[in-house]
Formats: sequence, C-alpha cells, structure tokens
Amino acid sequence: MALNVVSLAAATVVPLVVTAQLSEMDVAFHNGLGILNTGFRGGLNAIQSTPYELYKWPWGTIPRRCHDGAVQDHLCSPYDMEVYDVWFADCHAPWKLCRCKNAPMAAEDAAGRMAQVPVAARQWIRFWSFYNGTLSAGNGGNDITVFGDASNTMSIFLHEVAHSLDSWAMGPEYEGSAFSDRDFWKAVVASDTCVPDDYAKTSYNENYAQVYVTVAYNTQVHSIYTHAVECMASQLAWGQALLGHLVDYQPSAACTRRWSEEDSPRVCMGPKARWLGMCRGVPDPEIEIEEPQPPIATPTPTPTPQPYRDGGVRYAKGMPVGAPVDEIARTEDIRVRRNRADDPAKQRALEEKDAKRWRETLERAGVAKH
Ligand SMILES: *[C@@H]1O[C@H](CO)[C@@H](O)[C@H](O)[C@H]1NC(C)=O
Repeated sequence: MALNVVSLAAATVVPLVVTAQLSEMDVAFHNGLGILNTGFRGGLNAIQSTPYELYKWPWGTIPRRCHDGAVQDHLCSPYDMEVYDVWFADCHAPWKLCRCKNAPMAAEDAAGRMAQVPVAARQWIRFWSFYNGTLSAGNGGNDITVFGDASNTMSIFLHEVAHSLDSWAMGPEYEGSAFSDRDFWKAVVASDTCVPDDYAKTSYNENYAQVYVTVAYNTQVHSIYTHAVECMASQLAWGQALLGHLVDYQPSAACTRRWSEEDSPRVCMGPKARWLGMCRGVPDPEIEIEEPQPPIATPTPTPTPQPYRDGGVRYAKGMPVGAPVDEIARTEDIRVRRNRADDPAKQRALEEKDAKRWRETLERAGVAKH
C-alpha cells in the first residue's frame, strides 16, 4: 500500500520558510485516530503479530528500572509488581514487561500488543510497564509506560514507539534528538493544511508520532486515503517514505540491535522479600520504600501535573495517577529515600529494623517463611 514516488513528488512542495502555526492547523480525524484501531480488516488492533512466550519471574526481585518507576511516582508497591520476560520469535533476547497487579491490562494482552509492533520498531524500546489509571501512556528514555486499559488501542502502542524512532531511527545525523524538531519536518507539515488530529497539534513530536500511526494503517491495513486525508498529503508521503520500513511486518525480520539494560540490574523488591529469602545474592534497590511516617500536620501543596514528552501527563512525585487529590494521603505510606547506603551503619540498623518489622507483621498475619 506504500505511496509511490509520483505521489511523493506531487504531494510535496517544501517551503523554505515555515509560516503555519501547528496549533492552528486543521485536522483530518476530528475524533482522533482511535477510528483506525477497528473497522476494515479489524484495523490496527488486528495487524500481524509475532509469536512470543511469557516467563514470569518468581516474586521477590525486579529490574531496577521497574522498581524505581513504581516507587518514585507512587504508582505501585514494588511487592505488587509482576515481572515477565517476553521472548519474541524475532529476537535473541527477551523484553522485560513489568506490571502492577492492579493494572487492567493482563500480561498476555500487554505482550500481545508489543508483539504487533514490528521488530524494526520494537527493537528501539527497552522496558515496558503497565499500571492502572486513566488511559494514557508515555515514553521516557525509550521505556514505555502504559496506564489504564489499552487492550483495544493499538494506536497508543504505535504512537509511543514512534517517539523513540523519532530520536533514534531516522539516520545517524539525528541520533538522540528528535527528527521532528528539525526544520525539514516542520516544512513538510507546513506544506499541508491539516495534521492527523488535535493531539498532533500539540507539538511536532506528537504530530510525527500520529503520522506514524497513519502510516502503520496505510502499510498494514488499508489505504489511508479511504479517509479524508488529502489535506495532510505531504506528511503521509514523507511519513511513508521515511517510516514505512519501520512499520511493515516482514515474516523473516529479526532484531538487529537492543538497548543495554546494564543500568537496571535485578534488585530485591524490599526488606520483606529479603526476609522471605527471595533475594539471595541480589542487591537492594537504591531507592527504597521507607517506613510509614506519622501523618504530616501541615498541608502539602498539590503536585502539578507536568507535560509528558508523549503528550500525556507526567505526574509529579506524590501524585497517584488517576487518583483524586484527597487520595494522595492514603499513598503517603510509600515513601522513597535515595542513597540509604550512604551510611553503612545506618543502613544495617535500618535493615535490621525493617527485617524485624516485616517478621512481626508476617508472623501476626500467620505467613510462614517459605
Ligand atoms: C484504576 O484506576 C481508575 C481510574 O483512575 C480508578 O477509577 C479505579 O478505581 C482503579 N482501579 C483499581 C483496581 O485500582
């Protein structure tokens, strides 16, 4: 379904000066790109997937990245995190999937969506984490976090993957900085009269990611021109030319690269897991759960959501995702403290205290050591 060279040339008149205001452009899909997830041939939700197998880690240890992600933003107790190795048939090394046990997406659903991201694009993503919350997602440092039930929203997965492609897969001269922030892409957009949807109007990064979604549809489902997209012909033509190979399913495709996970070793979930004997030879996380604190007397200011690079919302530390403000108090018992190990004597004392506390708690609860 790729657009041919003729349409690429005809559609593209790249002006020298970018005059159009992205935020003032018209949109092709007034109700967003969700419409592309279903419909003809099952839409993006039904694109080809790669076979995979899931292996669940025994409870007790967790990749540091997942531990810190859960704890820093108060998203989940590390003890409630599940970790899976997802082995895809197209790569020699698994991807790690971390899931809070109250996440609405089951591990199988999550892995199934990851499997539909063609390996040429998937290989630019490192960790995948799934939490409960209002449906949204983010890509921070090539680690994707999904909140809420994205089971029927393949477009979200493709969109988040696109942010990594923007920074890393557009050729060596763009490595590490978004291609879509360059004049070239801005000029391509400016030569059109519309962008994919309202979300695409928020930044060139979001615009690029939404164009990737439309290119995915055009490549794997059906001509995107079955929708009224003439007004974004340049973005589609260049998107297809630049991204088509990164969104196409090839049965023989295999990963050619992966990100290092060296800075995210397996760590102990916390003192409870250590006391239960699940962490032998495994270091503690650097950021640990602190003991419950007495209620804070003075009111704390409500954290303001910060714009997230994905266009969703990055929640400030202390603000549970999706929870109303008055629920923040209830999550205050999960606190984080950096570098407990700065003082080894203090560290030992705290560990002993932790172990004692957990032992007592567990004994009270009648949990046997296993
Ligand atoms: C999940 O998040 C939603 C939206 O914030 C909330 O209404 C719901 O109670 C949460 N469910 C669980 C199991 O935590």
